[in-house]
Amino acid sequence: MVFTSAVWALALLSLPLFSCAKATIDQQIMSLENSNPGFLQYPTQLTQNVMPKFIHSHNDYWRDVPLLEAISLGVMSVEADVNLFNGTLFIGHENAALTPNRTFDSLYVQPLLQILNAQNPKTPFTVNQTTPNGVFDTASGTPLQLLVDIKTDGVETLPFILQALQPLRAGGFLTTFANGTLNTSAVTVIGTGNSPLEQVKALSPRDYFFDAPLTQLDDPSLNTTWDPTLSPIASTDYEVAVGWSGIGNISDAQLANLTKFVNDAHTRGIKARYWDTPAWPINARTNVWKVLMDNGADWLNVDDLEAASSF
Ligand SMILES: *[C@@H]1O[C@H](CO)[C@@H](O)[C@H](O)[C@H]1NC(C)=O
Ligand SMILES: *[C@@H]1O[C@H](CO)[C@@H](O)[C@H](O)[C@H]1NC(C)=O
Ligand SMILES: *[C@@H]1O[C@H](CO)[C@@H](O)[C@H](O)[C@H]1NC(C)=O
Ligand SMILES: *[C@@H]1O[C@H](CO)[C@@H](O)[C@H](O)[C@H]1NC(C)=O
Ligand SMILES: *[C@@H]1O[C@H](CO)[C@@H](O)[C@H](O)[C@H]1NC(C)=O
Ligand SMILES: *[C@@H]1O[C@H](CO)[C@@H](O)[C@H](O)[C@H]1NC(C)=O
Ligand SMILES: *[C@@H]1O[C@H](CO)[C@@H](O)[C@H](O)[C@H]1NC(C)=O
Ligand SMILES: *[C@@H]1O[C@H](CO)[C@@H](O)[C@H](O)[C@H]1NC(C)=O
Repeated sequence: MVFTSAVWALALLSLPLFSCAKATIDQQIMSLENSNPGFLQYPTQLTQNVMPKFIHSHNDYWRDVPLLEAISLGVMSVEADVNLFNGTLFIGHENAALTPNRTFDSLYVQPLLQILNAQNPKTPFTVNQTTPNGVFDTASGTPLQLLVDIKTDGVETLPFILQALQPLRAGGFLTTFANGTLNTSAVTVIGTGNSPLEQVKALSPRDYFFDAPLTQLDDPSLNTTWDPTLSPIASTDYEVAVGWSGIGNISDAQLANLTKFVNDAHTRGIKARYWDTPAWPINARTNVWKVLMDNGADWLNVDDLEAASSF
C-alpha cells in the first residue's frame, strides 16, 4: 500500500501543471502498464468495464464461445438448448448439432461456477458479505438470466437439470423462492421450451422458474397466477402476436397488441420478451427493436449480439 501511493505521488508530481498534461499522463499510464505492477490488477476484473444490457442471446451455442461471448458484450441473458440422452444433458437446438463433450455442465454450469468463484474472492475484505456478486463487475447485484430451453420431454428432463445445477446451488449462486421470499442471486434460471409448468410450480424451494406465455397471462384455462416468484419473464412469438415487418408503419392493431401484452406482464411485475423478430433487412430489424423498446418490451431477443449491444 505504501509502495502504491508512493508510485502515484511520483507520477503526479512529475506532471507539469499547465502544459502537455495529457501527453505526460498518457506517458505515465503507458509506463505503468508496461512495467505491469501487480497493484494494477484486482480480483474481479474479468468483466471490467462491461455494461449489462437487457439482451437475450438466442441459440447461444452458435457462438464461437458460448456464454463467454455474450457476457463479454454485457448480454444479461443466455439460452441453453438442452437435450436429455442416456442421462446426460447435451447442448444444441437440433440433434445434428450435438456432440459428446458439449453438455449443459461443460458449456454452462462449470464456466459459470468458475466465473462466479472469481467474482467472489474469499478475502478478509469480503468476510461480511452475505449476497454473492454476479458476473458483471460494473453491476454486481445484476443477475445473469439463464433460459433453459428443454428440447426433450419436460417431465423426464427437469430432474436432470435440477441435479446439474447443484454446484451453482451449493455456492448460493441461484435466485431462489423459498418461504414466501424471492432471494435474487447471481444466476436466475428460467425454464422454457418443454419445461413442465405443473412440475415447476410444485418446486419448493424453487430455483428453476418458468417462462410464462405472454399472450395468455389472463387466460383462466391455464389455472395459474402468474407472478415473478414463478415467472420473472413472459415471452411470445412476435410474428404471431404483432407481426409488423419493420417496413412502413406499424398498424394500430399491431401496436395495440404489442402494448397490451407488455402491460399484462408489467402489471404482474413480469418482464416481457418477444422472440422471432425480423432479422433482415437490417433497417427493418432495427425499426422493430426500436418500436419494441419504445413500447416497454424489456428484453431484446437477438442472434447478432454485437449489433444489439451497440444499438
Ligand atoms: C446411449 O447409450 C447407448 C447404449 O450404451 C449407446 O449405444 C448410444 O450411442 C447412446 N446414445 C447417445 C446419444 O449417447
Ligand atoms: C470433443 O469431442 C470431439 C470428438 O467428439 C473431439 O474431437 C474434441 O477434441 C473434443 N473436445 C474437447 C475440448 O474435449
Ligand atoms: C465485519 O464485521 C465485523 C463486526 O461488525 C467488523 O468488526 C469488521 O470490521 C467487518 N469487516 C469488514 C471487512 O467489513
Ligand atoms: C439469500 O441468499 C444468500 C445466498 O445466496 C444467503 O446468504 C441469504 O441469507 C439469503 N437471504 C434470505 C432472506 O434467505
Ligand atoms: C425456510 O424455512 C425453513 C423453516 O423455517 C428453514 O429451515 C429453511 O432453511 C428456509 N429456507 C430458506 C431457503 O430460507
Ligand atoms: C388448478 O391448480 C390447483 C392448484 O395448483 C389444483 O389444485 C387444481 O386441481 C387445478 N385445476 C385444474 C383444472 O387444473
Ligand atoms: C393480436 O394477438 C392475438 C393473440 O395472440 C392474435 O390472434 C391476433 O392475430 C393479433 N393481432 C394482430 C393485428 O397481430
Ligand atoms: C406513417 O406514419 C407517419 C406519421 O404518423 C405519416 O406521416 C405517414 O403518412 C405514414 N405513412 C404511411 C405509408 O401510412
